[in-house]
Amino acid sequence: MGRLAGKVALITGAGNGQGSVEAYLFAREGAKVIATDIAYENVKEVVNKINREFGEVAIAMMHDVSSEEDWKKVAEKGVDKFGPITVLVNNAGVLSMDTYEEVSHKNWSKVMDINAWGQFVGMRTVVPYMKKAGVGSIVNISSLASLVSVRQFNAYTASKGAIESLTKTAATELGGYNIRVNSVHPGSVKTNMFTAVYADEAAMEKRKNNYPLKRIGTPEDIAYGVLYLASDESSYVTGIAHVIDGGIMAQ
Ligand SMILES: NC(=O)c1ccc[n+]([C@@H]2O[C@H](COP(=O)([O-])OP(=O)(O)OC[C@H]3O[C@@H](n4cnc5c(N)ncnc54)[C@H](O)[C@@H]3O)[C@@H](O)[C@H]2O)c1
Repeated sequence: MGRLAGKVALITGAGNGQGSVEAYLFAREGAKVIATDIAYENVKEVVNKINREFGEVAIAMMHDVSSEEDWKKVAEKGVDKFGPITVLVNNAGVLSMDTYEEVSHKNWSKVMDINAWGQFVGMRTVVPYMKKAGVGSIVNISSLASLVSVRQFNAYTASKGAIESLTKTAATELGGYNIRVNSVHPGSVKTNMFTAVYADEAAMEKRKNNYPLKRIGTPEDIAYGVLYLASDESSYVTGIAHVIDGGIMAQ
């Protein structure tokens, strides 16, 4: 308990899956949480549960991460409520499955706007608050898809690769302000995003057996890695690509 005491954390895509577990875990560890999602009803429910258990430590906000205007509103309201943001988890994302032949410019732009631009503009929005606070940790959720090929995920892999590169650049530019920037690269994680692709049990079973640990990751498996990077326990860690993948990259 208390691993994030005194931190103010903004977590995007917190209405479902990994983001919702991170919001809960961060609140349990003492952070004030600004939980945002384009699916407002979902994130409101997550925040209600947090506040019932831990007191008024979280707020829910409607937020489209591809909109710079939304970012400004969310950050201003969050700072008004809890003070300068010192942790950002850029978690919101969308998946798109298209072969080379199928990728349209429209879909490419949509995926890049949400997954890559959304994270970049998020960093740019919160960094002034972190500079003011004299400390900051940014965790950008990328994917194994930035490190290995994933067939039919063309626009998605490009967006996740952009996140990995942007993370390194930001870590270099912001280190002098005591702001750390790291990316997290999950393997398969059992959330809506995963079950949309591996819907039937047979496909899931096959996928599971590809992993040395013989199971699909849970949102908690990823959230604990994100918690470490958000906390001062990782105070000398910046610019890394932290893989959490049940060992699949090792084989
Ligand atoms: N599930 C996996 O296997 C897996 C693997 C590697 C990386 N990831 C990444 O992990 C992150 C979290 O995904 P998840 O697995 O929890 O999936 P999820 O679908 O459960 O959650 C994604 C969340 O992002 C929100 N969202 C979508 N578009 C948005 C927008 N424009 N603005 C704000 N919020 C938006 C959704 O409403 C949803 O709550 C994503 O960045 C995803 O790419 C997932």
